[in-house]
Amino acid sequence: MGVPLNDLNRTTEPLYAELLAAMDQVMRSGRWISGPAVDVFEKEFADSLGVRCAVGVSSGTDALLAVLMGLNIAPGDEVITTPFTFIATAEVIFRMGARPVFVDIEPGSFNIDPNAVFDAVTSRTKLILPVHLFGRCADMTRLLQIGETSGVPVVEDSAQSVFAKDESGRMAGTMGIAGCFSFFPAKNLGAMGDAGGIVTNDVSLDKKLRSIRVHGSVARYAHDRVGGNFRLDSLQAAILSVKLPYLSEWTRQRRDNGARYREYFAAANLEDKVQLPLAGPGEDVVNQFTIRVPNRDTLRAYLSSVGIETAVYYPTPLHLQPCFVSLGYQRGEFPVAEKAAEEVLALPVFPGITAAEQTEVVEQIAAFFREQNP
Ligand SMILES: Cc1ncc(COP(=O)(O)O)c(C=O)c1O
Repeated sequence: MGVPLNDLNRTTEPLYAELLAAMDQVMRSGRWISGPAVDVFEKEFADSLGVRCAVGVSSGTDALLAVLMGLNIAPGDEVITTPFTFIATAEVIFRMGARPVFVDIEPGSFNIDPNAVFDAVTSRTKLILPVHLFGRCADMTRLLQIGETSGVPVVEDSAQSVFAKDESGRMAGTMGIAGCFSFFPAKNLGAMGDAGGIVTNDVSLDKKLRSIRVHGSVARYAHDRVGGNFRLDSLQAAILSVKLPYLSEWTRQRRDNGARYREYFAAANLEDKVQLPLAGPGEDVVNQFTIRVPNRDTLRAYLSSVGIETAVYYPTPLHLQPCFVSLGYQRGEFPVAEKAAEEVLALPVFPGITAAEQTEVVEQIAAFFREQNP
């Protein structure tokens, strides 16, 4: 039996009638950019997270970029972030002419190490940009403390962690000055194309972001600042409004699927061969179920040969990416991130995956290890 890494149709198909009705309404409205569908989604998204403001934007990348523009990040500034994330997190810092200052991650959570953040703060530090990776909150209590004592704001890259909660029950994206979300189709809350969102309780930042997403304009053809075209399409907003009420149920399924893997791996006595992701102290939303194995590439090739799709997030930490050579980082500087990059393997955990499919994944992993050590 083959098992896909993700099958978006399993959650989308039951909503076809609702989605078509919502798209039909936008089509007939003629308001295809901005307009009521965007306003409605922004209100619903803000309410679902318990924040004052939500701004719909064109992607998670543009959410980060707009926030950095809103906070006036400039050449010469330093932004502390993790090297173990998707390129967008550091790319936006670089695009502002600022320097991404990478620090290592914690081995268990894959999230940025607050001790390393503390050590990296300098007089040029203008922002701390943690990522809540794979659906688990970074240690925001400590990061916010460091931010406060050094007078530096914290922006959360919550692209992978919508509805995740930290140990105090605070929602990902709502703890720092702003939280950035991606609604890329494969995310826990996905549109049918590119889309993103920013949340904040800071009303003046919200106002700035609304201007930045439309070329820095305050009124038609009056531009207070340089912005961009970071608008959220009305069709995507309408689609997100249909899907948002189901997000809690999909999140529950992801968490159950993660728990089921733990049970199956324990039953198969694989725990000494496979390191399972450490559950966080809060509520993880299991965007990925990332195991660690020393012989990752061989295992991955075997699983692929029996029809099981997996993924490697991320094979190269960002300090070793060719696009960042000018930053001068060397291999060996962030050993925890570098080792994770060699060992991580994400297993299928999407809502709608069946128990039989998860059994197959674990059985095939067991078969691989039996073949290796007969
Ligand atoms: C951690 C992280 N940050 C930022 C992004 C960028 O989001 P988008 O693909 O919507 O631009 C992603 C999406 O893959 C992500 O995983």
